Amino acid sequence: MCGIVGYIGFRNATDVLIDGLRRLEYRGYDSAGVAIKADGRLHVTKKAGKLSVLAGALEETPLKGHLGVGHTRWATHGPPTDANAHPHPTERGELVVIHNGIIENYLPLKERLLERGHTFASETDSEVLAHLIEEHYQGDLEAAVRAALAEVQGAYAIVVAHQNHEEIVVARTVSPLVIGLGEGENLVASDVPALLPYTRRVIFLHDGDMAVITRDAVRVTDLKGAPLEREVVEVEWSLEDAEKGGYPHYMLKEIFEQPTALQNTLGGRLHEENAEVALGIELDPHAFDRVHVIACGTAFYAGWVGKYLIEALARIPVEAEIASEYRYRDPVVDERTLAIVISQSGETVDTLEALREAKRRGAKSLGVINAKGSTITRETDATLYIHAGPEIGVASTKAYTAMLAAMSLIAIWLGRARGTLEEAAALELLRELRRLPRLVEEVLERRDVVAHVAEKYHQATDFLFLGRHIQAPTAYEGALKLKEISYIHAEAYPAGEMKHGPIALIDPHLPVVVLATEGPLYEKTLSNVQEVRARGGHIIAVATDGDEEIRRFAQDVIYVPRVHPLLSPIVSVVPLQLLAYEIAVLLGRDVDQPRNLAKSVTVE
Ligand code: F6R
Repeated sequence: MCGIVGYIGFRNATDVLIDGLRRLEYRGYDSAGVAIKADGRLHVTKKAGKLSVLAGALEETPLKGHLGVGHTRWATHGPPTDANAHPHPTERGELVVIHNGIIENYLPLKERLLERGHTFASETDSEVLAHLIEEHYQGDLEAAVRAALAEVQGAYAIVVAHQNHEEIVVARTVSPLVIGLGEGENLVASDVPALLPYTRRVIFLHDGDMAVITRDAVRVTDLKGAPLEREVVEVEWSLEDAEKGGYPHYMLKEIFEQPTALQNTLGGRLHEENAEVALGIELDPHAFDRVHVIACGTAFYAGWVGKYLIEALARIPVEAEIASEYRYRDPVVDERTLAIVISQSGETVDTLEALREAKRRGAKSLGVINAKGSTITRETDATLYIHAGPEIGVASTKAYTAMLAAMSLIAIWLGRARGTLEEAAALELLRELRRLPRLVEEVLERRDVVAHVAEKYHQATDFLFLGRHIQAPTAYEGALKLKEISYIHAEAYPAGEMKHGPIALIDPHLPVVVLATEGPLYEKTLSNVQEVRARGGHIIAVATDGDEEIRRFAQDVIYVPRVHPLLSPIVSVVPLQLLAYEIAVLLGRDVDQPRNLAKSVTVE
């Protein structure tokens, strides 16, 4: 969360920064700012509100220069005001700092700095860094940053510029930073999309790395100053991958990219000739007696589906764990535990810390990750990339279905290797997986059915989502999507649990979305549907093509194509994504940047 861009080269830095921040706005969007070096001085413009407010201010009073740093913020310490926006200059304005993360010991540092006569303009922990670096500055910016960081505890990605230096000094611990290597220009950003218009050659900084960036060179060291060799990576994402491509919102584009994303997740990994999957990971599938699947939010729901898949196909006990709970609950882990961490960004701090906890206790680890080179991928024993491409919309969609496909592959891999999944059953699953991109395409072709349902129910103040077995997580994910982008209160329950309490909520004003696709618990789900119907609730069913019976109980039916029941979450979540999207648009919500949210949550 929070987006950083830094530029040094021959272009107008303001243009590069505003364009880059626009590509990173999904990481936070409550204030934004830039500092541009011109005429030997740093000029700062920063504004509360969206990036467009800053862009407007810069149009009125342009800043021109070839070195600059910029930021888009998601507030942690201090509300979103002009003063709390980054960059933070020192009193004399000679030096500016941009910071993502949290400085845990900022209060004692601030007290000390106040005693030494510093005055602070903001309420942020980040401003402390600017004053601390100034304290240590004796003509060598890199040395001053190094000395300041030695006193700091917490998480940070920082970018520092000084009016006397033609360089940008950066460092990271926990929060991500990636350097883009150009010709006669270099950049730094918190994520790859900001770099794509200029270069695809990048260096992902590791925890504890510092770098000094000039227009012709990048030098990476550790925090003590020892030189480090970091690999230059050629990123595969193109500029179009990270742009809207004619869609009104990134979220809609990403929903419609799901067939391609699934193709990419599955591509080359399905081997029908021997009913195997090729994951290219070096983990011994016999080395585990239990699996912990650990993640947050939408990725957690993918993990929950993974539990059903792995238990069904590989007969290994699986716990699906919310990362922020896992790390503090003294989990039972040993060296025969496999910790699978799932993350789109690969940077979510709760997930990263839970991974570290599992590893400390002896677990082997496997990452299911979208972002190449992200922090989590460097700490797992193996990584299965989902290859969904850049996901910019704050509400996760294509990463979710790609995660589900990846979890299916892992379950088949474990089941085949451990002898619990027969060849014929595996073959059937592989054939079904191969059909998935086409099946999801079919669902997308039915968008107008979903739009009609959205039109009918968008004024509701509450929704209930129900599903059973492997479709229970789908209900939760559907409710999460709706709350996130429409701000309508939505709850999810395993359908069989409804009678134990939530049934009291049902009345003619409550739309109830039921996952009623074919599967072992179809009849039981139908009984739950009748319980709702008997109490006057409105049923919106997601059902399998050809199911006429459901029409007797549901006011609205959204049909999805028939698929193997274990893969049904991948197909059935798509109309729920569309439902949330259509309702949010009807309500005039900011679909790609819903209030209070940020993508890639790098604070605890
Ligand atoms: C919901 C959403 C979040 C993320 C969660 C984990 O639409 O996007 O719930 O799923 O913050 O993020 P990653 O997958 O990056 O670890």
